[in-house]
Amino acid sequence: MQYKNIFKTWLILFFISFITPLLAQNITPGTVWLDTDGKPINAHGGGILYQKGKYYWYGEFKGQGPNGAKAMDGVSCYSSKDLVRWKNEGIVLKMVPDTNIMLQPGCIVERPKVIYSAKTDKYIMWFHHELKDQGYKAAMTGLAIADKATGPFQYIKSIRPHQNIWPINLPQQSRVVPSSFPANFRQLPNWKERVEEGVLVGRDFNTGQMSRDMTLFVDDDGTGYHIASSEDNQTLHVSKLSDDYQSFTNEYYRILNGQSNEAPAVIKHEGKYYMIASGTTGWKPNPGRSFVADKITGPWQILGDPVIGTEADKATTFQSQSTFIIPVQGKKNSYVYMGDRWNADNLGDSRYIWLPLTFENNKPQLKWLNSWNPKKMPSN
Ligand code: DGJ
Repeated sequence: MQYKNIFKTWLILFFISFITPLLAQNITPGTVWLDTDGKPINAHGGGILYQKGKYYWYGEFKGQGPNGAKAMDGVSCYSSKDLVRWKNEGIVLKMVPDTNIMLQPGCIVERPKVIYSAKTDKYIMWFHHELKDQGYKAAMTGLAIADKATGPFQYIKSIRPHQNIWPINLPQQSRVVPSSFPANFRQLPNWKERVEEGVLVGRDFNTGQMSRDMTLFVDDDGTGYHIASSEDNQTLHVSKLSDDYQSFTNEYYRILNGQSNEAPAVIKHEGKYYMIASGTTGWKPNPGRSFVADKITGPWQILGDPVIGTEADKATTFQSQSTFIIPVQGKKNSYVYMGDRWNADNLGDSRYIWLPLTFENNKPQLKWLNSWNPKKMPSN
């Protein structure tokens, strides 16, 4: 009798763990998302690469526990053909157990994004990198390269981009390197105007520009761009990458100056560039933002909050923060918003909010769905 019960319990657990993920057809935002081994998917602040019939989802592999470094093991990768069932491909970028190497255990890696270079047949990952025991002070972007989408990625370098280079669109009169910088800068009455004018670019001119939340975007002509929160997270920088995507060119632009955007995600839709981003409130969600531009380098125009829902939904972007927009393959103008519902007390247990991103009057929109099937997504 007891054996019978044990067998029954075992059968139920087996079914939940292994059969349910295999049968899944739908995405159910905010619930625990199991991979094809029946384990919760651990790929936060992620991005997607589509290559040869498969989607690859790269993200932060977070451990259990609160904040920063302790919650970080490396970059994970999952693969899928349908955006619903994801196979764990393992940790594809690992911390290097060597204190001489910047990518050592205890450092922070966030928002990894991967693009493929047809020119070199390499997979190029850039990621936000903070150094061990320095909190979010270093503000660097890191590079890792692989021969296969599933890695292993080899760590190359971390940099503060554009050292001693002015942004293309910074007016001549703002190209000033201050001899000193006031410690109480944010208490100055006109600090915001001075940020908009570019004073922080001058401050960081000799060391290179800050680079925190970031994304990558490859345009139709194959040009790659790195888009990151810079200048104390006040202004985004759009940087043109080299032909092989492995370095920064000297061409970069400030956009949405002083507007404090994080978590940028970019797509090209009907010839225009659209961006979804968030404000800067740490792990707490805030109202989403959307923008449009004729050129990725700007100027960008504000379109407002993409959320269609209650005031509470709007205030928190359905309790999520953007990380990427997936162009659905084989469906024209069909996109998926990818967001993170962070759990600051246990980052490893943060959830995913994936919803169709649609367009109404040339404006991106997000509506809540409890459960939805990417195969049945509308085209715009
Ligand atoms: C918000 C950013 O978007 C995240 O990637 C992360 O850096 C947290 N801040 C840290 O507080």
